[in-house]
Amino acid sequence: MDSKPSPFVPPAPRPRTSPPSTLEMMRIVYRNPLELWGEPSYNEPWICVRGGVGGPLVVANDPALIRHVLVDNAKNYKMATVRQKILRPILRDGLLTAEGEVWKRSRKAMAPVFTPRHIFGFAAPMLKCARQFTGRYEDGKVHDIARDMTELTYDILAETLFSGEIAGEPGSFSHQIDRLFETMGRVDPLDLLRAPDWLPRLTRIRGRRTMAYFRKIVTDTMAMREERLQRDPDHAPQDFLTLLLRARGPDGLTRGEVEDNIITFIGAGHETTARALGWTLYCLAEAPWEREPIEREIDAVLAREPDPAKWLDAMPLTRAAFEEALRLYPPAPSINREPIEPETFNGLSIPPRAAVLVMPWVVHRHRKLWKDPDAFIPARFHPGNRDKIDRFQYLPFGAGPRVCIGASFAMQEAIIALAVLMSRFRFDTTAETKPWPVQKLTTQPEGGLPMQVTAR
Ligand code: HEM
Repeated sequence: MDSKPSPFVPPAPRPRTSPPSTLEMMRIVYRNPLELWGEPSYNEPWICVRGGVGGPLVVANDPALIRHVLVDNAKNYKMATVRQKILRPILRDGLLTAEGEVWKRSRKAMAPVFTPRHIFGFAAPMLKCARQFTGRYEDGKVHDIARDMTELTYDILAETLFSGEIAGEPGSFSHQIDRLFETMGRVDPLDLLRAPDWLPRLTRIRGRRTMAYFRKIVTDTMAMREERLQRDPDHAPQDFLTLLLRARGPDGLTRGEVEDNIITFIGAGHETTARALGWTLYCLAEAPWEREPIEREIDAVLAREPDPAKWLDAMPLTRAAFEEALRLYPPAPSINREPIEPETFNGLSIPPRAAVLVMPWVVHRHRKLWKDPDAFIPARFHPGNRDKIDRFQYLPFGAGPRVCIGASFAMQEAIIALAVLMSRFRFDTTAETKPWPVQKLTTQPEGGLPMQVTAR
């Protein structure tokens, strides 16, 4: 007889049973867009709304339609206007927000930066940061794991990006990042109404000064490294910064694009992984029967395999739990596009200027695509089961030409972090652990993740 308890169902907004009024909708979009979606969104292959406030809207859930938009006819889709309005002032021509020829040239120039050889090379600094980080848990107290994971992934990024050689006062950089994304990275109601750019967005004004300060640190850091590369090219650190500076050239990146991409990596590459790590530890704490075999797997691998670059392949159970947390709480909950030309797909007509939303949040919880969609069941991703999941029903890293360039980096980082943390400590929820998923730039746990950390 199977003695496993029934699966843990972590917190999530219930699908709405009636559509919100226009005013209510604006409020929800500003506060937490995850609360917007109703029963039809979680049940239908697509939803098409023509007379909405922000123009026509298509919610794409059918894997074939998603494949059409992101891959087969990707050339007919640009980044959605609202997304660009929020992100471009911060990230400019970084890969996430670049389009057309700039994007094509930059993606090609940056591909060598993300080869397996370089990613494996980052395993050692990832391990070093994770080990140093665990020192704080010796006190046996309650810690906010959400905040901690942001710090840990920030440490890892600072090490792999700059090898810790950042201009400015120590600590000020990470502080500025938090402020920047808190103030700039929100949907302003005026964006939603597609108001013209000259109308000031009150929600974003505060972010401007932070932005200027932040840019200056990056420019100074680049200048420091350029000087070092000239003076002592053989001994300069082999980190992202050196690799990006070497990707410059007539067919490569411009100086400004290197700067934009550094800011993009920071924006796209640490909060995302942090969120997924936090949700993984939380779900495992609430499902200790899932946690035990993972602890055994980690202990066994750490005892025989000293090379952290090999851990991702050696720990299928740990990886499956992380992938399941990415399903339930995709750090990038919405992938937004807009058609260049209107078109028809399998009877669905996609109108001009429609916002086409491929929402990992909704697709990953779709009633017709998953059994027990809201439950935490890592076995879905165990070897043998994983192949049964359609490529276009599971999209934490997107798909097609604009698929996340940092996916292997993130997976390797997550497994190393989980292995180090869980080999030494056990993370348990307390009476205060009541996270509520809220979509800001990433899927964040409102209320934080206070957890009791005990040595194993
Ligand atoms: C768990 C962690 C991560 C998640 C869930 C994630 C998710 C995503 C998604 C969904 C996209 C596609 C967006 C779209 O099509 O509109 C994307 C793109 C991107 N990601 Fe990630 N990401 C993660 C980690 C990282 C890391 C570590 C880096 C860099 C070091 C990174 C850099 C980027 C960049 C530069 C793009 C733009 C690619 C392009 O448009 O060509 N991401 N990411």
